[in-house]
Amino acid sequence: MKYSQIIGTGGYLPEKILTNFDLEKIMDTSHQWIVERTGIHQRHIAAANETALTMAEQAARAALSTANISPADIGMIIIATTTPEKIFPSTACLLQQRLGIAGCPAFDLNSIACAGFVYALSIADQFIRQGAINNALVIGSEVMSRIVDWNDRTTAVLFGDGAGAVLLSSTEKPGILSTHLHADGTHKDVLFLDNTMRKPTALDTELYMQMNGKQLFKLSVNILGQLFDETLAANHLQKSDIDWLVPHQANIRIIEAMAKKLDLPMDRVAITLNEQGNTSAASIPLALDKAIRDQRIKRGDTLMLEGFGGGLAWGSALIKY
Ligand code: ACO
Repeated sequence: MKYSQIIGTGGYLPEKILTNFDLEKIMDTSHQWIVERTGIHQRHIAAANETALTMAEQAARAALSTANISPADIGMIIIATTTPEKIFPSTACLLQQRLGIAGCPAFDLNSIACAGFVYALSIADQFIRQGAINNALVIGSEVMSRIVDWNDRTTAVLFGDGAGAVLLSSTEKPGILSTHLHADGTHKDVLFLDNTMRKPTALDTELYMQMNGKQLFKLSVNILGQLFDETLAANHLQKSDIDWLVPHQANIRIIEAMAKKLDLPMDRVAITLNEQGNTSAASIPLALDKAIRDQRIKRGDTLMLEGFGGGLAWGSALIKY
């Protein structure tokens, strides 16, 4: 039986850091409000010449280097991003060109927002399990700073930019044990960004992300709890079998509720939210990369990854690292 194993990870964060104190100077907010409500202290902001593509390339090259494999060995590239380089070609095709590996399938998952990475991981895993490919590069890359309304304090304080990459490789040993994906379009109005190209003129509200934070908070806590039950049951595992939670980084209160649901202490949760804010599709691979690089997550550990975002769309991956 074939599995997908994580053989390398990489991350990239723009150099510029915007702290809550910096935000206090440009909008009616406070460090205290942001930390108490979200857990965020600072976020990274892309420079004018940085994009989802440039950041994805940096993260990809870091993952290739840790896995010690050549770009030529990649059999598929998937980039999850809500902020793609272009409408088309896909950011993944542009990255493929930069890596000089024409031929393998390359595509973006564009509109799955913060659940994009687990969707991408799940798709790559299916191809590897089937034996269709041996190695896949799965990336989340986002320039959220370009789709938030900097005049809207209810969203501007939450997001940051960055990219995370994971290299998956075919193995006979258990790696990704299962993935579970869901969506519910009846919640389409809780989080969205209108398509500004649809109309000759766009209102401000159509240019930027719109979010009902309170509703999203309640929905996420509920659906993620059910998702954990589903994921554990599918693998005949107990909460006590989970070593690490690697959650989407939206809000520390949601993450704490999820850790409690799994009976995990917070030092068994990969957290980057305080330093990076919510980087949407990049948040899970960035958190994973950090915890692997500083050797908190070790080979043999069982990881629960979860993401949720606009759609609503949500999903999990249970991984034997
Ligand atoms: N600074 C200061 N005050 C603020 C700010 C701010 N940045 N933002 C809002 N407020 C005010 C509000 O105006 C409100 O004031 P009022 O009581 O006078 O009306 C008060 O603070 C409380 O606002 P709430 O919206 O009720 O605050 P809440 O406790 O719900 O926290 C938050 C808001 C942080 C957004 C929370 O609801 C949340 O994290 N929700 C989940 C969001 C989420 O997960 N987003 C990511 C989705 S992932 C994706 O797909 C992109």
